[in-house]
Amino acid sequence: MSNSFWIGKTFDDFLFRPQQGISRSRRQISLASRLTSTLTLELPIVSANMDTVTGRRMADTMALQGGLGVIHRALSIEKQVEKVTSVKRSHSAVIEKPLCLPMGTSIGEAIAFARRHDIGGILIETSPSSGILAGILSNRDIPWTNESSHRPVEAFMTPIEKLHSHSPEIAVEEAERILFEKRIERLPLIDESRRIYGLITRKDILFLRERPFASKDKKGRLLVAAAIGARGDFIERASELVKAGVDCLVIDIAHGHSSIMAQAVEQVHKQVGDIALICGNVSTSAGAKFLMDVGVDAIKVGVGPGRGCRTRLETAAGVPQLQAIRETWCAVEEAVPIIADGGVRHDKDIFLALICGASTVMLGSPLSGTDESPGLVIEDPVSHMKKKIYRGMTSPEAVYESLYGAEDAEMLESAFETPAEGQEIQVPYKGSVVSVLGRIRGHLQSAVSYAGENSLADARQKIIPDPSVYLIPLSEASWRESYVR
Ligand code: XMP
Repeated sequence: MSNSFWIGKTFDDFLFRPQQGISRSRRQISLASRLTSTLTLELPIVSANMDTVTGRRMADTMALQGGLGVIHRALSIEKQVEKVTSVKRSHSAVIEKPLCLPMGTSIGEAIAFARRHDIGGILIETSPSSGILAGILSNRDIPWTNESSHRPVEAFMTPIEKLHSHSPEIAVEEAERILFEKRIERLPLIDESRRIYGLITRKDILFLRERPFASKDKKGRLLVAAAIGARGDFIERASELVKAGVDCLVIDIAHGHSSIMAQAVEQVHKQVGDIALICGNVSTSAGAKFLMDVGVDAIKVGVGPGRGCRTRLETAAGVPQLQAIRETWCAVEEAVPIIADGGVRHDKDIFLALICGASTVMLGSPLSGTDESPGLVIEDPVSHMKKKIYRGMTSPEAVYESLYGAEDAEMLESAFETPAEGQEIQVPYKGSVVSVLGRIRGHLQSAVSYAGENSLADARQKIIPDPSVYLIPLSEASWRESYVR
């Protein structure tokens, strides 16, 4: 990159020069943008692969709102797979592998099972793993008192003879008609021998209708990504996640411009095959070219800008985030999409990232402290302010928790050999992430309108060849006028 305009610059160093507006309604402005070479998001926001940001609930909501969640890897393969499976199953037009319990299960066990998986109706099969439908136990079949908790589910379920069901091939419109006409909540899909092929629920169909912008795969299931790292069990993790239907894998290491990364990408390609692969983090043109050459599908950019990061403070390594975004874009242009990761403090930063090179933006702290982020809401006993924990993934707390209970004492010891480059902080409780994302969507649409375009794609196409034409560098006084309130 020859242009000194970008050196040492980040989001607060600029304002955007307003262009003549052409949009009649800001709410109609499309924000669609590429996540990888094959996947597009209607809202170009990705929730970070951090244990205080993205678990099942966050991933589910991100996809429903048109973004994407990356489930973190600070947990066992089994638990991570469970979360991916749960997102793929939720709000899908057709639930392909519905959860079942066998006849003979007690009502108490069934209630616990429904709570654990957050479902309102359980298919009951004739015997364990038979896959043959015997009936459905829904919320309204469950007795209110505990007296019957030891009795078997078949004493309360609606038996197959009284159920409406359908053969496996059915269009969504036909399913909608049946659900409405019969006034039922669930339609199991079975063959002549009552073998279970799927389940359609009224709730999921209505939900998807209200969210045409949700991020979905070809089968109408929500999109979800998961982090795998580049060491240890990462290949086994990758193949189990792919089996569970993950749409995208993320090789997330602090220094992505490294031979460890090249080897990891090669191994994933060899062992797991054709799956969208997001890799990072890098922050230089050489790093971006390197990842493009090893054949990744998207490049995650950002070394040290994150709110929970201490990398720059402890090692002096890093590139100011807007410079990093521009530099990496100039290296690969539109050949590989860039995900700008970390450092977003205000919604305007997202727009600046997108018009300077990023195709999507990954957020950690802006989505933390919400109902959907993992962790409990804590109330300060003095101020009564509600808070949640947010922490870097290399903070001592995150490292300790991910390894707590690990049998391998050596692993624990070696994890603490490297001093922390992350920290834990408390963030204010913000309510649902849906309103945070709604605000971001609205501000992005307004920003595109100030850019004089009707879609983010058009704004990017116009500005990205030379954003310096549209950006005004700020003096200290103009910075104060703009950003100090
Ligand atoms: P924000 O600013 O959105 O940043 O909270 C989220 C990003 O921060 C990165 N991250 C870390 N960086 N040490 C670091 O240097 C850490 O412990 C750490 N944990 C997360 C990560 O890229 C994330 O998406």
